[in-house]
Amino acid sequence: MTDPAPNLSAIERARLAAVAEQFCHCFGRPAAFVARAPGRVNLLGEHTDYNGLPVLPMAIDRSILIAGAPREDAVVSLHNTAARFPPRSYTLAADIPPATAGDWANYAKAAGQGVLRFCVAHPQHGTVQRGADLLVDGTIPSGAGLSSSSALVVANALAVLAANAVELPYETLAELLPLAERYVGTLSGGMDQATSLLARAGHALRIDFDPLRVRTVPLPPGYSVVVCHSLVQAEKSGAAKHGYNLRVIECRLGCRVLEQALGASLPSRLRTLGDLLHLFPARPLADFLDALPPQMPDGPLSLADIAAALGTSPERVRSDCQIPLALGDRFVVRPRLRHVLSEAERVNQAERALRAGDAPAFGRLMDASHASCRDDYEISCPELDACVAVAKEAGALGARLTGAGFGGCTVNLVPDDAVTAFGQHMDRAFYASRRGSDKPAGECRFVFRPQAGASLTWR
Ligand code: GLA
Repeated sequence: MTDPAPNLSAIERARLAAVAEQFCHCFGRPAAFVARAPGRVNLLGEHTDYNGLPVLPMAIDRSILIAGAPREDAVVSLHNTAARFPPRSYTLAADIPPATAGDWANYAKAAGQGVLRFCVAHPQHGTVQRGADLLVDGTIPSGAGLSSSSALVVANALAVLAANAVELPYETLAELLPLAERYVGTLSGGMDQATSLLARAGHALRIDFDPLRVRTVPLPPGYSVVVCHSLVQAEKSGAAKHGYNLRVIECRLGCRVLEQALGASLPSRLRTLGDLLHLFPARPLADFLDALPPQMPDGPLSLADIAAALGTSPERVRSDCQIPLALGDRFVVRPRLRHVLSEAERVNQAERALRAGDAPAFGRLMDASHASCRDDYEISCPELDACVAVAKEAGALGARLTGAGFGGCTVNLVPDDAVTAFGQHMDRAFYASRRGSDKPAGECRFVFRPQAGASLTWR
């Protein structure tokens, strides 16, 4: 066996060997490969990715591993080392019927359908027609905002491709898999898959979209990235889906409102807010808020109000912005734009602060991001706010929610020599009164070092 990934931690290496061995017990034959896809923590740039604006995440020391071997037929047989994910199977096809919403098999199906369709459209890469026996082992807490679901999609895609001896560049997968993951019904952007595939050990990543570009960013020496669970589960394919998709639609509406406000000065329509960067390279994004009509309120608007402001009909706006009926008829526009445009600027400032080794400046930007996520994007919750407040008391230079929000984790920048005291303070002032006896401290607080992106190991 070649050395899979010399950058991997000892724990990850031991897991690679263990899951291959478990595969043998499970399927009665040796594994031919093991795919590995890490989770991620986003340091800054929340809900900017689907707007075509940058993010600043890093991959973490928790991952999905899939040991596998090809089959003669087109069936993908899925087992999981965790009993709460029962065995599932599906047949590779261009249209794979989904399981019930929330079922773990849907992430595998999303990947299988996505890579198969890509290879049908680009036959020069090969054909995806063989199924596989797959054993999945995961250590990324789910519903924590650490991207367990996208890591599951990435690892499944690598496994199905390996079973078919098809190699796709990771950059191609990073563009293809976010669209494939829409199979589960969330209108997510591309940060999670790009981080899982393209991350570099020891570095954060700045990711830009349309087209996808990635560059490494150093983390300040002497500081740790500590992630704390708010103890509120936020499943992206469950309760958080409505709130997430609503934000995506509100940003689409924001594009229409800005187009109207910018009028003749706008050379073409806005596909995303990120188009503003290409159309007006010299203009700071925050400027565009001043272009909004002064009478447009901060509060929710009905589709009829928005349509009237745009000089069109609600039906036209609904079809133009592809607004599902299930998302209702109350939309917040101005504060959503304020968050997204200011958050993108904060990513630029944060990258500069990190390159200059200015940890306090980076911490202040994290704090400002949390305030914006809470007040303007309304994706926080009382538990996340409390977790952030306690983290600041406990000595974090910066503290903010991370990921989609609505629960899940916070990310904190803590001086290395204060990490132990930070954890003790969090335990006393946040966890002691909240944690059920079933949740050990090790499953609530994590110190993460930036890891390398996905890998595939042949055995
Ligand atoms: C989820 C999505 C990402 C991104 C974040 C919020 O993790 O999958 O695409 O939008 O939320 O920044």
